[in-house]
Amino acid sequence: MSDAQEFIHPRVLLEDKSKFKTCNQIGFYRRQKLLHPDQSPYLAQLDTLKTGNGIASLTIFHQETKVPLQLQLIAVKGNMFRLKIKEISPLKPRYEVPDVLVTEPATERFNILLQETGTVVLEHPSGTSKVHITSQPFSIMVTQEDKALIGINSQGFLYFEHLRQPSEKREPAETDTEVQQDKPEDVFGLWKEKFGDFVDIKANGPSSVGLDFTFYGFENVYGLPEHAENHCLKDTGENEAYRLYNLDVFGYRVFDKMGTYGSVPLLLAHKPLYTCGIFWLNASETLVEINSKAALQSHLQPAAPDTRKQKAVPKKDIRWMSESGIVDVFLLLGPMPQDVFNQYAQLTGTQILPPLFSLGYHQCRWNYEDEADVEAVDSGFDEHNIPYDVIWLDIEHTDGKRYFTWDPDRFPDPVKMQEKLQEKRRKLVVISDPHIKVDPNYTLYAEAKEKGYFVKDHKLQNFEGTCWPGVSSYIDFTNPAAREWYSSQFSLEKYKNSTDNLFVWNDMNEPSVFDAPEMTMPKNAVHHQGWEHRDLHNLYGFYQQMSTSEGLIQRSGGKERPFVLTRSFFAGSQRYGAVWTGDNKAEWEYLKISVPMLLSLSVTGIAFCGADVGGFVGDPDPELMVRWYQAGSFQPFFRGHAMQDTKRREPWLFGEENTLLIRKAIQERYTLLPYWYLLFYKAHHSAEPVMRPLWVEFSKYQDAFGVDSQYMLGNALLVAPVLDSGVTSIDVLFPEKGEYWYDFRKYTRVKGPHRQKVAVTLEEIPVFQRGGSIIPMYTTVGKSTAWMGNYPYELHVALDRKGYAVGELYVDDGHSLQYLHEHIYSHRRFTFSRNVLHSSSADKEGQYTVDCILEKVYIIGLKKSPSEVTVHCSGGKKTVEFIYSSQLCLLSLDNLSLQVHTDWEIHIS
Ligand code: NOJ
Repeated sequence: MSDAQEFIHPRVLLEDKSKFKTCNQIGFYRRQKLLHPDQSPYLAQLDTLKTGNGIASLTIFHQETKVPLQLQLIAVKGNMFRLKIKEISPLKPRYEVPDVLVTEPATERFNILLQETGTVVLEHPSGTSKVHITSQPFSIMVTQEDKALIGINSQGFLYFEHLRQPSEKREPAETDTEVQQDKPEDVFGLWKEKFGDFVDIKANGPSSVGLDFTFYGFENVYGLPEHAENHCLKDTGENEAYRLYNLDVFGYRVFDKMGTYGSVPLLLAHKPLYTCGIFWLNASETLVEINSKAALQSHLQPAAPDTRKQKAVPKKDIRWMSESGIVDVFLLLGPMPQDVFNQYAQLTGTQILPPLFSLGYHQCRWNYEDEADVEAVDSGFDEHNIPYDVIWLDIEHTDGKRYFTWDPDRFPDPVKMQEKLQEKRRKLVVISDPHIKVDPNYTLYAEAKEKGYFVKDHKLQNFEGTCWPGVSSYIDFTNPAAREWYSSQFSLEKYKNSTDNLFVWNDMNEPSVFDAPEMTMPKNAVHHQGWEHRDLHNLYGFYQQMSTSEGLIQRSGGKERPFVLTRSFFAGSQRYGAVWTGDNKAEWEYLKISVPMLLSLSVTGIAFCGADVGGFVGDPDPELMVRWYQAGSFQPFFRGHAMQDTKRREPWLFGEENTLLIRKAIQERYTLLPYWYLLFYKAHHSAEPVMRPLWVEFSKYQDAFGVDSQYMLGNALLVAPVLDSGVTSIDVLFPEKGEYWYDFRKYTRVKGPHRQKVAVTLEEIPVFQRGGSIIPMYTTVGKSTAWMGNYPYELHVALDRKGYAVGELYVDDGHSLQYLHEHIYSHRRFTFSRNVLHSSSADKEGQYTVDCILEKVYIIGLKKSPSEVTVHCSGGKKTVEFIYSSQLCLLSLDNLSLQVHTDWEIHIS
């Protein structure tokens, strides 16, 4: 191909870790680290306090520079506080993150409790939390029932670089010893910062902000994706930090705090009986330090400072530092994990309800070479009796990496190819990256150029950088007009040879720029309305996915659900589709790290997430491949993917025995689709994570707080993937006192709390159903989700120690937006109590007649054999046959033929 020379192969380019900065190579970090703890130079002028409409504002200022800042404290409905700090009269406007919050949060009125010299106390109208503002040095203490909960600036790390003229005297921190020693001007990167051969000239000078928070009584914090790290965040010490800066980190290192492809600046703090969170709404490069300390009890009770108790209590110090913007932070005050999820969803939205097909298995590779290859792979699934829903085309399907085009030699008839897939009821996903080849004959390029829709360089010319197509310009997705234009490119009319059977993958959207600092866009590139890239870097991928997702909705005239996978993301990306964890490796440690990485995404709103099954870089051996399929089958986004030049690895290429095992894993995913779909509905409707760390479900059970190797799927399934080679057993923790757990396939019971070695074979990974739950499943699987629309269901009713269980089923057409606009869905509730299984409507609004029957019911944990089982429905009462195993305490009912959308009861006597 003529483009071949223009390609810079990722192996050469991306594996060099020195391409990425360490904290000490980051100017604003070095500057903020000059602050001395506990000596905040800021003072709050309490006499400037004004309150009204739920907003309390007052002036704070730096005692040396005297630059005044406005502090706003806002009581947000739903047990949240918002704190904003910005310059009262900045030289230029500073960036305030748009489009991430779904709406301006509703406020509530404060009560002012006390206003004495030196302190003001404001009470949240809910009455349980108070804010104590101290004047000198400025600090805030949030208390809950008069106990210290969160301290703000209690370590004195409030930092705010006001905008200035180049000639102006610098920040006090810079007048500190080190800076004064006549160091070259750019040591602290105020106006100019070097990294390797790259120089960042800062037109606006220094503009960083920072603030510290202390969580009293907490030992565990979570969130802050995306890092290839443990789920429970580690202490960073004083010279390292979790970095939030979206970067293309090919084959990223595991257990590393430097950022990867996306960022969600949400941190959750948890202890038994209390969960809360901090959402730091800033889209510039951000560093977060975390450190555990002990606090003396007397510091914890500002309302009763004279307490005699001097007991040491754990605390977590969290220090946020961002390169630009303002301080805009939400305190989510829980108190339970689900309350924090609701609060965060109230701000940033919930997971979009995905089309059902996207919960099936996806087959991807860089690349499926041509139409014949696509057809062969597609048929391969049928020949090997393995269900799958989507085949993916990577960058080579295009004409010279020009997105929205097709390589005429490899894909001469893409419409026919899509139709063939459609006949098999399967879908196609194609890639669409944000870099656009600089080629005046490429319509997309020419149009974007003409309309002024590219990001500009610092000289206000179209920015040009290298990516897959060679020299490219980058669409400025922060510009609403550019987004609208990009969305319109997905119309069937514009996107030649596309059909409505085609969905989209946004990659390289950190954005990746091969010949730029840290392989991303220079920070002084210029966006819509003159904002520097530095201000909004972490939002770039968010906006591309937003625009793509809206494009797909528009393509269908507003009727169909989109499916868009993105590599880069920010808070709120859950509203637009799915996220995957990028270029992992075909090694066991990457399988292992996929679990905590996905858990961190899940607790920060991004429910639809997955990792490349098999590992992107390198060739997995058969055992790893099998284990990865088994794990991936129980992760939300389930896609096999592999890098160019790796060995082919379709599921049937690892020998007959392994094909059987992989088939089994994928089939199990398909039998569980009714449960998956319900979980996604609940994520969409009520912000419940699909994949849940144990601490979320067992919030008082401390043994669960640091678990990375097992998790809950919804509230009913405990999944313990096998993450090591050659093991014959794995350690499984069964929480919590009073819980029953049933082996998902063998029905044997374990009582919690219990840690146990569970024997494993290559056949499957351990999965347990929680006593008290009911799981809906399909009785059999088809070629893809679309073949299974009216397949019969079965219910797995697992009894708790009181003989009780509850569960739900959610069904709609699986693809349209009618569930939303016209309430066309069926949401059922099942309860098992006093030996009666009862089906009723869970939601009066849902109107949908599902042409499906419930065929089988398994009641697991039933202590004695019934004498009779009867079904009661609108058609009357009938006796049904049953099989009871006293060894397993399992009652099996078959041939029930009950209509899924109707009310009925099954009596066991
Ligand atoms: C990088 C992505 O992470 C990978 O999944 C993809 O195959 C390549 N880009 C080529 O598009």
